[in-house]
Amino acid sequence: MPRVSALIRQATREDWWHVLEALKVLNVHGVEHFTKKRVKELVKKHCVGLISDGVDVAGACVLEVEDKAIEIYALGIAPHYQGMGLGSKFIRWSEAMARGVEVPFLYANSYEFYGALPFYEKNGFTTISKVTDSELPSSFYTFVKMI
Ligand SMILES: CC(C)(COP(=O)(O)OP(=O)(O)OC[C@H]1O[C@@H](n2cnc3c(N)ncnc32)[C@H](O)[C@@H]1OP(=O)(O)O)[C@@H](O)C(=O)NCCC(=O)NCCS
Repeated sequence: MPRVSALIRQATREDWWHVLEALKVLNVHGVEHFTKKRVKELVKKHCVGLISDGVDVAGACVLEVEDKAIEIYALGIAPHYQGMGLGSKFIRWSEAMARGVEVPFLYANSYEFYGALPFYEKNGFTTISKVTDSELPSSFYTFVKMI
């Protein structure tokens, strides 16, 4: 896959539409539902990054900064930009954020059907939990990366 040069910038409240467009990629299996209202709240309360190739916004990453860790709360790359290294760039951005606030690790949760397990492992995360339950639509993973 070709790599693309891209820049990450912090989203402002006016960027809610770009964030919503990017996170719609997660609204596919009925477990997530990013709406205008929810995204506006996220942009207000969380650290949200947007990635762009200089023309289009290609993806968004929402971080929840906690006392002892940062959660990658939502990460979405538009389908035609996937596989070009942009998601990995967001991971490095998240690591820099974690260093900045001096927390020792990053973590993320994901359902198996998103197929993101190889992505997190390739980016140095370890799977610390896999929950398989008939109440869940698919196995639910937690990934951790020490900084
Ligand atoms: C998962 C996602 C964030 C990865 O971002 P990306 O920019 O496509 O990933 P990268 O190009 O940085 O890929 C890095 C590595 O991850 C793996 N990978 C990425 N997407 C993958 C996929 N769909 N299936 C399997 N492996 C994948 C590959 O091993 C890849 O390494 P390679 O390029 O050497 O083959 C992105 O594809 C996406 O938004 N998917 C839909 C939503 C989602 O799953 N979000 C995260 C989970 S909640």
